[in-house]
Amino acid sequence: MKIAIGSDHAGFDLKEIIKNHLQEKDIDIIDVGTHTKESVDYPVFGEKVAETVQKREADFGIVICGTGIGISISANKVKGIRAALCTNEYMARMARRHNDANVLALGARVLGTDLALSIVDTFLSTEFEGGRHERRVHLIEKIEELKL
Ligand code: RB5
Repeated sequence: MKIAIGSDHAGFDLKEIIKNHLQEKDIDIIDVGTHTKESVDYPVFGEKVAETVQKREADFGIVICGTGIGISISANKVKGIRAALCTNEYMARMARRHNDANVLALGARVLGTDLALSIVDTFLSTEFEGGRHERRVHLIEKIEELKL
C-alpha cells in the first residue's frame, strides 16, 4: 500500500508521527510536505495530496491541518477526491464503508496522538461496501461532471 501525506505547519508534528507509524508497518509514503513548522498555506498541500491520489500514484491520501477543515475543503476541490474529515474511529470506518473516501483529513489541534493513529489504522483497514453505496458515490461523481 502507498499513502500520500501532507500537512500545513499546524499539522506538521502529527504528519511526522503518522509517517513513522505507517513506515513501521512497511507502508510506502509519499510526503508532499510541508517539511518544517514555518507558516504555510494549507490549500497547497491539500491539492498536492489530492492530485497524487487522483493520478493513482498513491492508494489513499492523508491531509492534516489545525482543524482538518481547510485542508479537507481544498482536497475535495480536486476531481475524483472524496476527502473525509474524521474525529473518531466510527467516522473513519463509515467514510470507507459507505463513502469510499480516498483521502482522510485530520485536525492536529483537535485530536490526541493515540486517537489520530487509531483513526488512521481504522481508515486504512476498512473496505468499501459497494452495493447501494456505489450508486451514491456515482451520484457524487455526476455532480462533478455537471459542474465542469
Ligand atoms: C492555521 O493556523 C489553520 O488555520 C489551519 O491549520 C487550519 O486549521 C485551517 O482550516
